[in-house]
Amino acid sequence: MLADAVDLLACPHCGAGLELDTPESTAAELVCERGHTFDVARQGYVSLLPGSAGKIVGDSADMVAARGDFLDSGHYDPLMSAVADAVAESPAVGRVLDVGVGTGHYLARILDTSTETTGLGIDVSKAAARRAARAHPRIASVVADVWQQLPVRAGVIDVVTSVFSPRNTAELRRVLRDDGRLVVLTPTEHHLEELVGALGLVRVDSEKNRRLGDSMAGVFERVSRRPVTFTVSMDHRAIEGVVAMGPSARHISPAERSDQIRSLPDPFAVTVSVVIGVYVVVR
Ligand SMILES: C[S@@+](CC[C@H](N)C(=O)[O-])C[C@H]1O[C@@H](n2cnc3c(N)ncnc32)[C@H](O)[C@@H]1O
Ligand SMILES: [Zn+2]
Repeated sequence: MLADAVDLLACPHCGAGLELDTPESTAAELVCERGHTFDVARQGYVSLLPGSAGKIVGDSADMVAARGDFLDSGHYDPLMSAVADAVAESPAVGRVLDVGVGTGHYLARILDTSTETTGLGIDVSKAAARRAARAHPRIASVVADVWQQLPVRAGVIDVVTSVFSPRNTAELRRVLRDDGRLVVLTPTEHHLEELVGALGLVRVDSEKNRRLGDSMAGVFERVSRRPVTFTVSMDHRAIEGVVAMGPSARHISPAERSDQIRSLPDPFAVTVSVVIGVYVVVR
């Protein structure tokens, strides 16, 4: 719930702390001491974008729905467990921020593992924020853009997680405590490779991990690196879901995609291959 995490948030206009106000006549809102106000949506999330999201478009409602169905199917449960395990090993886990939270499945798994944790989920997509707000009672869900200053106070977060999501190194450092941890899950070039080959999906760029290292240099230092690789037997429905939630969803019409998928064996063996890196702040 938003109320649990209000003391972590900062006004996107002036940086002051926010308070939850529940005027009798209107819906709840967050207010800063200079009077900037932000309506809490009926669905329990709040948008703290300073203006409009501009050109930054997060996942569409269809992509979020596809992701939710796919993650409910359990195929990525080992990934959720591996992220939750990496978080649980951190020195403190009271306040976890998941950037690019999506449906909230990963953050909910973390909160299930650790009953003392408050979860803050940030995503630029309203559809994702709506979904994340109901993913777990201890999730506070906020719409914000990771490429702008995050509406989060400095040094208040114990662990930041970034799962298949964009990262802004400087901002993640700012919101983390000095002894905080950053847990990053990135796909390797083998991730979903059978589908990439058969359906011509957007390929994971093999330079990506090198670039990730470069963007962290001098700010974060990696303390562990865990590859997680396994094979999933996906039926056509699961394949439809994994394609519809990914970066290829915008490149081809759903009808054409369904035709391609129908030509695959059912079920089809697909490799899941990611790396979970755990980082500490460079002192
Ligand atoms: C590939 S999805 C991963 C979602 C979730 N972490 C998961 O693995 O299920 C990437 C997420 O990042 C969000 N996103 C993309 N650009 C963003 C930005 N600039 N600021 C915040 N979130 C962003 C998308 O809306 C989407 O929910
Ligand atoms: Zn303000």
